[in-house]
Amino acid sequence: MTRNGDRPDLLVVGGGVIGLSVARDVARRGLRVTVLDRDEPGRGASWAAAGMLSPLAEAHASRPFLEFGLASLRMYGDWVRELESEVGESVEYRECGKLLLAFTRSGSARLDEQERLARRYSVSASRAEPEWLRREDPDLARSVRGALLVEEDYRVDNRLLVRALEGGARRARVEIRAGTAVREIRIQGDRALGVILEDGSSLDAGTILVAAGAWSGRLEGLSRTVPIRPVRGQMLSLAPEQLPSRRMLEAEEGYLVPRDDGRLLVGGTMEEVGFRPGNTVRGIRELLESAIHLVPSLESAPIVDFWSGFRPASIDGHPILGPDPEVRDLFVATGHYRNGILLAPLTARTMGAVITGETEASLPPEFLPSRLLAHEGSGGAS
Ligand code: FAD
Ligand code: GLY
Repeated sequence: MTRNGDRPDLLVVGGGVIGLSVARDVARRGLRVTVLDRDEPGRGASWAAAGMLSPLAEAHASRPFLEFGLASLRMYGDWVRELESEVGESVEYRECGKLLLAFTRSGSARLDEQERLARRYSVSASRAEPEWLRREDPDLARSVRGALLVEEDYRVDNRLLVRALEGGARRARVEIRAGTAVREIRIQGDRALGVILEDGSSLDAGTILVAAGAWSGRLEGLSRTVPIRPVRGQMLSLAPEQLPSRRMLEAEEGYLVPRDDGRLLVGGTMEEVGFRPGNTVRGIRELLESAIHLVPSLESAPIVDFWSGFRPASIDGHPILGPDPEVRDLFVATGHYRNGILLAPLTARTMGAVITGETEASLPPEFLPSRLLAHEGSGGAS
């Protein structure tokens, strides 16, 4: 990639956890990078998330996903420590573990499946006996039929993380432009030249990266639509007198994630409602019922706040990572669905290497945009 006047070597569309992580990585490899976000960076799904780093929980037993997720988890500690020392702020990364709880027969079957996966992928996990559970976390519901303690499940404060990533990117000389909405990727022949903004002006760049989360499929000009749809997730937070556990808690109907300030996050609904924003009575009820089911004493906990966000989901549930198969100088990093916070470090490292031409081999073939040519016309943004 060559330098050319004021033109950035890489222009990133979208300043969420994925756009910022890749931008920082590429800038640290010596390229000139600009990030464009139509709002404040880090206010999309990356802000709405719970910050669980749980490769097994939502992996649906897909081997490439599990391997990528575990590799990303295992580099998390070093990645955040470097970031924290760069910006001088904590991102509240905690190797706290998670208790997977079963209340029903299908819940127990899920524990068996998670235990099997943990064993196969050498993830530290063991069955928790009822007496141990009652001693450890006495506020848990008595109706728990079984529990799996997944020690290798961690958490991070995703809002602190995106703020630190923004700071780290700026320190690496990334230019970040908030309030700059991209309308179209400008393509001539088989080459991406830059972007056209909503105000009609255009920006040139050596390379473009589409990292606009759930909105990636809405960008005009892509030769084939990036087939991404939004899946709304509602969340709320409570301020119990005492946290029910120092670990994360999860059952079939939802999860509870502690924060160091004593709040307890309750998540998350899964709703196919297009880009309809906000919280609903049904969503809040679902979250509260699930919290009380797991920990009955939460009934009296004050509600602090509630919010929602859009997970970027691809047709096959895998991220879309790598070069566009038809347009040169165009790359995609999206579709991280329920796990973008977890997958950010490895996404940044592999995409950084691919964009700077160091390697292509490290991307799983199941994640490459080229796989989606076969799905053309069968999905897309709603
Ligand atoms: P986003 O964070 O949505 O960023 C996209 C950015 O692109 C936004 O800032 C937006 O303003 C910008 N943009 C959009 N269109 C344009 C345009 N035209 N021009 C310029 N900018 C544009 N993951 C986990 O790993 N662990 C969790 O516990 C977890 N919990 C979750 C809970 C909920 C309720 C939700 C909604 C998600 C959760 N996720 C979790 C998933 C995770 O949040 C996402 O996978 C991840 O944040 C996606 O990051 P992103 O950068 O691709 O998208
Ligand atoms: N990973 C948690 C969620 O998507 O709700």
